[in-house]
Amino acid sequence: MNALAEWMGQQLSKRPMPASEFMALALYHPELGYYRRQEGPWGFEGKDYYTALDCGPLLGATLALRLEAAWERLDRPARFTVLEPGAGRGWLGRDLLAASCGAFAEALVYVHQDDNPAARRAAEQALAPFLASGRARFEGESVADPFIGAVVSNELFDALPAQPWRWDGQAWLMEALSAEGPVWLPGDPGEAGAWFAAQAEEGLHPGDGSVWSEGLGPFVNRLGGRLQAGLFLAVDYGETAGRLLAKGADLRRYHGHTVDGRWWEDPGTCDLTADVDFTRLSVELNALAFRVIAHESLSRWICRHAPLMDWEARWMELAEAERAQRMQNLMQLTLPGLMGERFRVLEAWKDGPSQEA
Ligand SMILES: C[S@@+](CC[C@H](N)C(=O)[O-])C[C@H]1O[C@@H](n2cnc3c(N)ncnc32)[C@H](O)[C@@H]1O
Repeated sequence: MNALAEWMGQQLSKRPMPASEFMALALYHPELGYYRRQEGPWGFEGKDYYTALDCGPLLGATLALRLEAAWERLDRPARFTVLEPGAGRGWLGRDLLAASCGAFAEALVYVHQDDNPAARRAAEQALAPFLASGRARFEGESVADPFIGAVVSNELFDALPAQPWRWDGQAWLMEALSAEGPVWLPGDPGEAGAWFAAQAEEGLHPGDGSVWSEGLGPFVNRLGGRLQAGLFLAVDYGETAGRLLAKGADLRRYHGHTVDGRWWEDPGTCDLTADVDFTRLSVELNALAFRVIAHESLSRWICRHAPLMDWEARWMELAEAERAQRMQNLMQLTLPGLMGERFRVLEAWKDGPSQEA
């Protein structure tokens, strides 16, 4: 048994632990949490999961075009800051900086934010040339707030601790871990209960339920409040509140490229994720004067915005291995049933003073 599991076992002998508390400790315990380890979880062999960034630079190249369009829409400000919370290894920043060019590239400053030590080390490498030229920075290094530009994230909100709830036909039950194993216990969902009830279009049915991240609202408020004008873009395991309720969303565990629902096992050595309520994210953003301009699958977003003509033209110039990798990248993000359909993109826009009517 690992040290974190042992420590949690002692806590469980006193009281059951809500699943969200377990997730918070399993991922972010200061010494033993999964995202506090010295070694990163991302990648293929010997790792736990890969993200769209492991498949190649298409996501970053597409994002570069979306950000350039945002810069144009803001009347080409001299400084366009892109903050990426939960930036992990900095690969999205690397790919988008590499794909940007011309006057937009001169205005673009990318800011990496993540207090995961493995992420920081990997990002120092991935972003090295851009850090040296000042085009990339780490959070805390002279970023004036509020800024004009964008807040972008890939698989960030699914890493926020979340609590699963179920409606049993009469009352709400919360998922927890007892000394004997996972249990559903009566509890008061508070704000979450009112939200779920309002989102269940045909009323709640036994078995309906969803996940509620306590930290989502305050976090989005902090991030959105820093952006004076521009684009808020999230790529995530996003879904509408209604669909999450109907499917009875729960926590998922990733370990060694297998996924299951056994979130209570081996804390600190597995990734835990929760679906992200994009309806709620939209409501939070609306309250901050953002307007949602897109909510679609990643595959549709890529097909609409990716520089595919350019991609095709450059493809023939590449060495064979790289051509195969680019092909894989394109297929993963666009074909039915692959990664592009598992993720959704939410885009929200906030006007600057010059765009406001
Ligand atoms: C699933 S990983 C995704 C990393 C990266 N975006 C990628 O696609 O490879 C989630 C990351 O979010 C970070 N994270 C979680 N909560 C955060 C917060 N409140 N602020 C900044 N980063 C956070 C974690 O440390 C972790 O590196």
